[in-house]
Amino acid sequence: MKREPVSGSSSPLDLLRERANSSVVPIKWEGHRLYLLDQRILPHKEIWLEYSSARGVAQAIRDMVVRGAPAIGITAAFGMVLAAFELSDSDRTTFIERWLGETEFMLQARPTAINLKWAIERLKEKIDRHPELETDGLAILLEKEALSIWSEDIQANLDIGSYGQALLPDVGKVLTHCNAGSLATGGYGTALGVIRAAVSRGKKIEVVANETRPWLQGARLTAWELIRDGIPVTLIVDGAAGFLMQRGEIGAVVVGADRIAGNGDVANKIGTYAIAELARANGIPFYVAAPVSTIDPEICSGDQIPIEERGAREVITLAGKEIAAHGVSVENPVFDITPHRLVSAIITDAGVLVPPYDSAIHACL
Ligand code: MRU
Repeated sequence: MKREPVSGSSSPLDLLRERANSSVVPIKWEGHRLYLLDQRILPHKEIWLEYSSARGVAQAIRDMVVRGAPAIGITAAFGMVLAAFELSDSDRTTFIERWLGETEFMLQARPTAINLKWAIERLKEKIDRHPELETDGLAILLEKEALSIWSEDIQANLDIGSYGQALLPDVGKVLTHCNAGSLATGGYGTALGVIRAAVSRGKKIEVVANETRPWLQGARLTAWELIRDGIPVTLIVDGAAGFLMQRGEIGAVVVGADRIAGNGDVANKIGTYAIAELARANGIPFYVAAPVSTIDPEICSGDQIPIEERGAREVITLAGKEIAAHGVSVENPVFDITPHRLVSAIITDAGVLVPPYDSAIHACL
């Protein structure tokens, strides 16, 4: 079918420029092609890769060309739009059967971030609600929905920023782990969105970024984003966080989330749990910033969240060079669970949730 640009929907990028004076995004959707900023090679090279098939997009998510829970969800949605356009010459029954088959590959790309499943469910519901549409109409409908998912994520981040900035000190150092910034979302970021909002309101915040072994999201991505925005950032090795807290240097911790259980337990980048325990031991508030779409209402506690394990190579190499003793065995869980008792507040686009989280979460869903 002939593909016309979607009309009537405001561009997510315009939204970001208008509302946040910020332009870093990990995703572009142009001419019915998806472009992803290759986060494996940032910050030294800025290369955009082009995708035209759902399978290619699923592989890109698995390989971490794009990463971060909300960005994975948005990317998966556009991957499923590509599948819809590929199938739009078939009849409705065949379209739905094959499109659902493609969702299975997409869902397997990465297991921990709930946003991937959430985005695909939203597209499925759109199809179910429009039995009158033929396949070309369905493809256009899904494209509009993917663009809405993207715009809504940017708006959610701006709202998270507005709510969360009030919790940060007027002056001080804020520790973050991994990258929960523009690159991990539709734009602006969750944890970094809170920091951006605080800085834009005149707070004198300095960021302390954990390097985040083994993938170095802190050293490569968080540091890059903040330097671009002119926000002071200091890089530390992961093991230094406790010492800085003990010396009284850290005023607050703010991190993102890959999935939040119904009781407030939080899955986030490996190392987050240790930071939360250290924050509690040192009397420092520990905040989690995430959109409501990161809450999994079907899971009542963190031990039910699937934790992704990745290959040994990520641990035994550094910048492609082998660093570990030959023959050593490796475990590489890439997320961990922070129990809700360690979380001072969950900053969402629906407001700041405080304990007891089960009722707070129930009320915001
Ligand atoms: O393995 P990654 O880089 O996808 O892990 C990302 C994180 O753990 C982020 O903190 C989380 O997805 C929140 S991003 C707004």
